[in-house]
Amino acid sequence: MGRLLLQVAVFFWLFQPTAWALNSAFDVREASIDSVHTALFTRISTCREIVSAFIARIEEFNPTINAIISLNAEALSIADKLDERIAAGNVTGSLFCIPIVLKDNYDAVGTNTTGACLDLAHSKPLEDAPIVTALRQAGAVILGKTNLHEMALEGLTVSSLGGQTVNPYDKTRTPGGSSGGTGAAVASNFAILGTGTDTVNSLRSPANAGSLFSFRPTRGLISRAGVIPISFTQDSVGAIARNPKDLAVALTVMASVGFDPNDNVTALVPPELKSKDYSASLYGGSLKGLRFGFVDGFLNHTASPETTPVNDVMADMVHKLKGAGVTVLNITESIYNTATLAALDVQIYEFRELFDAYLTRPQLGGSPRPDSFAELYSSFKFLVIPGQSGMIRSAFVSSTANTTYLDSLRKIQNLTQALDATFVRNNLDALIYPQQKNLVVRVGSPSQSGRNGILAALTGRPVVHVPAGFSPPSEDAPIGVPIGMEILGRPFTVGCC
Ligand SMILES: *[C@@H]1O[C@H](CO)[C@@H](O)[C@H](O)[C@H]1NC(C)=O
Ligand SMILES: *[C@@H]1O[C@H](CO)[C@@H](O)[C@H](O)[C@H]1NC(C)=O
Ligand SMILES: *[C@@H]1O[C@H](CO)[C@@H](O)[C@H](O)[C@H]1NC(C)=O
Ligand SMILES: *[C@@H]1O[C@H](CO)[C@@H](O)[C@H](O)[C@H]1NC(C)=O
Ligand SMILES: *[C@@H]1O[C@H](CO)[C@@H](O)[C@H](O)[C@H]1NC(C)=O
Ligand SMILES: *[C@@H]1O[C@H](CO)[C@@H](O)[C@H](O)[C@H]1NC(C)=O
Ligand SMILES: *[C@@H]1O[C@H](CO)[C@@H](O)[C@H](O)[C@H]1NC(C)=O
Repeated sequence: MGRLLLQVAVFFWLFQPTAWALNSAFDVREASIDSVHTALFTRISTCREIVSAFIARIEEFNPTINAIISLNAEALSIADKLDERIAAGNVTGSLFCIPIVLKDNYDAVGTNTTGACLDLAHSKPLEDAPIVTALRQAGAVILGKTNLHEMALEGLTVSSLGGQTVNPYDKTRTPGGSSGGTGAAVASNFAILGTGTDTVNSLRSPANAGSLFSFRPTRGLISRAGVIPISFTQDSVGAIARNPKDLAVALTVMASVGFDPNDNVTALVPPELKSKDYSASLYGGSLKGLRFGFVDGFLNHTASPETTPVNDVMADMVHKLKGAGVTVLNITESIYNTATLAALDVQIYEFRELFDAYLTRPQLGGSPRPDSFAELYSSFKFLVIPGQSGMIRSAFVSSTANTTYLDSLRKIQNLTQALDATFVRNNLDALIYPQQKNLVVRVGSPSQSGRNGILAALTGRPVVHVPAGFSPPSEDAPIGVPIGMEILGRPFTVGCC
């Protein structure tokens, strides 16, 4: 049972078709940590050649996909240093020479951290987020920063600084979000993997839209310090990758930060998890005897071209799971309703205070940059889509002192207990449901409707997101539009994160 969620991820990986075509020195298409390391350590490619191949890929396709906000000018010189270390026989780190991208809300020295907001274009951190330091120390090469939905507040991945990122599988559709730049970049083979953040759906939605693997860790597992915040209760950091092994390596490195005094929720982590290798013994497991609850309330039963493909793919997945020996129960409790769960969302109470605190982190002085939430949202140098203006107005005047905030926290506690009760009553190993009730929305839509991520966001329970299938091919989507599934487990104890 130790690796359950990631083992399920491996199971679904076996069903993945591949996309994209291009020739280059090192073939970046569907490359993995293992394939990069094989090329490197058999001296077929140097680290400079590998990093160059990914940069060439970005230069060729980013003008169409628009996933990257800025490139790291140091990427090639870092690759040269790694080549010197190979020559010196000094190779350490599970991400040695692995090209990665960071969502542009992660502080990384040498890059600006913009939240994809014009008013933060000159915000230059002088300290890495601890997870960024961990990624560098493991040998990762940061290629650049990715677009996100402005300030990570919606799921369309359109922003004042980065414009609209498009879905590589269907350019008429969004890439999900808010970590949509990372999702589109990884789906387009711009990097081996990338990082994201998730306050309600934001790691899993781009994974859903890009046929990718992702995790949202148990609340507290990974420090969020040095990442532009929204919600103390709901924010999490995580990674997006093309295969479960690479995802597990990224998880292992990110979780190695352990307790961080700058993010006190990390005190919840059992200390032994700091050195746990989540990528060990991923293969060869069996799903036989597991019990999954399928959340019926997270489907939209109204037939339509946007919903039927999701329902069909999920029915097919349930069939495959049963074939693998899993018992799948129909969970019909009325609490599993995303519309009512949305009423418990506490972002508007926490956003302003946390963001003001983030702005006190050491930054390069002398550049025009807002000093507060109020200054930013008075600047007119930001994008707020129509459906969000109420949220911003409310965040101006709301705080953790509101009595309704405490009431919401109590309701979240009750929800978490009710979720635990669902697991116990049905003797479940995991809950499963589609990430989104409908296909990822088209560019220009008012919101990323139909997503189910809020259950994990409120309760802090871990999720692994796996690709589940595709809608039928169409002119806009020659392979079909990707459809993903969430696997939600118990805190810390179940396999993943
Ligand atoms: C190996 O490289 C690391 C990172 O540059 C360095 O800190 C360490 O001293 C090197 N070890 C040896 C034996 O050269
Ligand atoms: C990053 O911020 C610095 C100042 O803090 C500024 O000089 C530089 O132009 C910014 N970079 C970009 C690409 O905007
Ligand atoms: C933990 O940190 C949050 C955000 O900085 C703060 O609001 C809270 O009071 C802290 N909790 C404890 C117990 O120190
Ligand atoms: C369910 O799908 C139908 C058809 O696409 C749509 O009109 C409706 O708004 C959806 N309902 C929900 C709750 O998402
Ligand atoms: C689950 O139960 C609901 C409510 O009774 C029903 O509508 C739905 O068809 C059931 N799903 C399955 C797969 O049996
Ligand atoms: C929080 O309290 C302020 C001040 O009383 C009020 O204006 C605001 O509407 C409240 N916010 C919410 C979401 O209730
Ligand atoms: C939490 O659940 C308890 C027990 O069911 C109930 O009495 C209480 O009113 C609930 N609290 C909230 C805030 O919903």
